Amino acid sequence: MLLLNSDVFTYKNNELYCEEIKVSDLTTKFGTPLFIYSKKFFRDRFLKYQKAFEEINHTIFFATKSNFNLNVMKIFYDLGAGIDVNSAGELFRALKIGADPKRLILTGVGKTKDEIKMGLENDVLLIKAESPAEIYTINKIAEELNVKARVAIRVNPNVDPQTHPYITTGLVQSKFGIPAKEAIELYIEASKMKNIQLTGIDMHIGSQITKVSPFVDSVKKLAEVYFELKELGIELDHFDIGGGMGVVYKDENPFAIEELAENLIPIFKELNCEIMFEPGRYLTANGGILATEVIYTKSNNEKNFIVVDGAMTDVLRPSIYGAYHNIQPAKINGENDIVADIVGPVCETGDFLAKDREIQKSESGDVLAVMTAGAYGMVMSSNYNARRRPPEIVVDKNKFYVTRSRETYEHLLYDENIINELHD
Ligand code: LLP
Repeated sequence: MLLLNSDVFTYKNNELYCEEIKVSDLTTKFGTPLFIYSKKFFRDRFLKYQKAFEEINHTIFFATKSNFNLNVMKIFYDLGAGIDVNSAGELFRALKIGADPKRLILTGVGKTKDEIKMGLENDVLLIKAESPAEIYTINKIAEELNVKARVAIRVNPNVDPQTHPYITTGLVQSKFGIPAKEAIELYIEASKMKNIQLTGIDMHIGSQITKVSPFVDSVKKLAEVYFELKELGIELDHFDIGGGMGVVYKDENPFAIEELAENLIPIFKELNCEIMFEPGRYLTANGGILATEVIYTKSNNEKNFIVVDGAMTDVLRPSIYGAYHNIQPAKINGENDIVADIVGPVCETGDFLAKDREIQKSESGDVLAVMTAGAYGMVMSSNYNARRRPPEIVVDKNKFYVTRSRETYEHLLYDENIINELHD
């Protein structure tokens, strides 16, 4: 079964291509495992999103947690996106690409004092608050810095996004946001704080959502809060619906972005303020693959195994969510399909990229592509088993650039030393 999930990865003469470059040419040059991204995919997806909402005043903030590679971030930024950063580290990375802080929003359920301070010192467009305690902290730090903090409150609409429980965030059982009723009280309280300027209302109900209705239900709930606040004299400049738009990994049938627009634009028009979006996966997932080489194959009475050099340290999603990623050969060899587990070299039974997967019979040296690895791939990678992180290549038509090279063994040591002296 050949499923490539996007039109930038295609077969020509039985060879897998990213845009106009043969995947196996890149793996020969840079080795495996190797992340390969398509610039065209990122650009087309962003422009499609923007076009769907062009009727209304809106800004798309790229959720860089899905792929924080500097050049990937810059592709979206150069197209006009703002960037949603979730930590001091992501803020640091965004500043590294030269992003104007006025195009950055700082989000996250547990921002430390240092992170809030960094956001305020850099004068980011806004900081989201997810608890009363956090608003007090922001106010206090803003007072110390003698600035007024622009703040949006994240409201938890208590709507089920019907996705994996680990990536469901808009139910009251989850740690995120503040329930609507309490949020109104908090807005009233925060409106009296000297160093807080309330600018918006925000939600993010989950990730990999394939139906429009959870968005519509949540936006309606938040709109009620928005209008109630207006009546109370608290006027907000923006309304942020977060990210979460689902994509195809296997046989999902996610809504088209135009369908989301059609359903939400009438509500947005009534709100009459700037609408913000924070998509991550939608913009990046199907624009990337992890190319990996078969090291060994083996079989026992029960199973076939294809042992590859990519692992849970590179693409963690199958291991932690049981997520399905298509796996395709870089070269169609005409062999019949077998059913096999495709596993990595890490010392964990949970280290697999696919279970009981129909795939062409492969042998040592063959290259396979783990599809839909452009989102939550490299960003969730690790050095477990002292494995080096893979390089990342961006393909642009028939050219490419290496945006990050493979980690060296020295990188693994960072500044770790053998200590001969003890401190008091
Ligand atoms: N905004 C906020 C506040 C978020 O927490 C997230 C994702 C996004 C935007 C972007 O969501 P997206 O459009 O990418 O769905 N590691 C998981 C996904 C975790 C998502 C966390 N928050 C996975 O691999 O499926």
